[in-house]
Amino acid sequence: MSLLTATTGLAGGISVAGWGKALPERRVTNHDLARTLDTSDEWIVERSGIRERRWAGEGESTGPLSLAAARRALERAHMAPGDVDLVVVATCTPERPIPATSAIVSSELGISAGAFDLNAACAGFVYGLTTTSALLEAGVARNALLIGADTMTSVVDDRDRGTAVLFGDGAGALVLTGPRDRHGHDPAAPGLVASDLVNDPAGVDLLVVPAGGSGRPASAETVAAREHYLRMDGREVFRRAVRAVEASIARTLARAGHTADDVALFVPHQANARIVDAVLSRTGLSPERTSSTVDRYGNTSAGSIPIALAEAAEAGTVRPGDLVLLCGFGAGLTVGTALWRWGTPTPPGREAA
Ligand code: ACO
Repeated sequence: MSLLTATTGLAGGISVAGWGKALPERRVTNHDLARTLDTSDEWIVERSGIRERRWAGEGESTGPLSLAAARRALERAHMAPGDVDLVVVATCTPERPIPATSAIVSSELGISAGAFDLNAACAGFVYGLTTTSALLEAGVARNALLIGADTMTSVVDDRDRGTAVLFGDGAGALVLTGPRDRHGHDPAAPGLVASDLVNDPAGVDLLVVPAGGSGRPASAETVAAREHYLRMDGREVFRRAVRAVEASIARTLARAGHTADDVALFVPHQANARIVDAVLSRTGLSPERTSSTVDRYGNTSAGSIPIALAEAAEAGTVRPGDLVLLCGFGAGLTVGTALWRWGTPTPPGREAA
């Protein structure tokens, strides 16, 4: 089923200097939705595990959410915007079609860093982590801001109960610092241990926004036909996602020479608690060591993994040396898994001689 399989192998020496998240103010509960849609709190909780989600209001779209998460991550890293020389935003709902959201964030931060966006839907953050790690390892950048952000409410049809109940808006960000010495290589160093990037070619039509791109530009006709909204075959996405995620995790762990028992924290894409439960039972990963935010935020697409990771880091759940397994899946159907060894920068004056 794989169109593209990518492995980065060992690429150590990248530390997480800071983390941050940003969520819209407005909380929308299942009961709120049941007032306008033919649905119920019971159905949504049982089928997805979601109890509430955040919906963006004025000034809370992908650009401002990305910027807010980035600012928090920089603050946590004790860095100024000028310390950053690369900004990567993973998103499928950019602030505008042109320019890239990363360029807007860089402009707001007042920096002239390299800036590009990346779209791998809900798997975007893992694709971004793999790409950014390679650029840091290559010495192209020294400090990178990696942001996962989506405003799914901008593409979800609020009349469609099959999708409207599942998605929310939000952003998460990391500041990643590259290796000081690119010549030495320590396999126990922090950073990307292994990664697996795949796409299921048979799933390309299962989750689509039909219009608004170059193939079918937005027009009065496409808007009237509601073709600028997301359409999803949820049952088939569910079935394929569970199998593809299980296989991708198995490949990643095997490439790294690790097992599920070695994973200190599993951060899956937060789309549906039932998908996560099925993956846990098939992979042997520990439920106690698995992040879960889906009940509070729903599916925030590329935002879901970095938001969960920022919460885990803030709570001290993840410690230096821990192996963190991140796995995203989404429209495409695209799957990305990364095994990451957690490490934070050594405070000045404490470096090994
Ligand atoms: N409330 C009440 N009933 C509903 C709702 C709702 N919100 N939505 C659908 N139903 C109905 C359906 O119409 C159907 O009724 P029918 O049997 O009369 O036709 C019935 O409930 C069962 O529908 P299913 O789709 O079979 O329900 P399922 O148990 O599969 O759950 C769900 C649906 C939650 C969408 C599930 O399939 C799912 O989570 N799939 C994965 C979706 C996903 O993760 N997508 C995101 C990918 S990430 C990205 O890139 C954006």
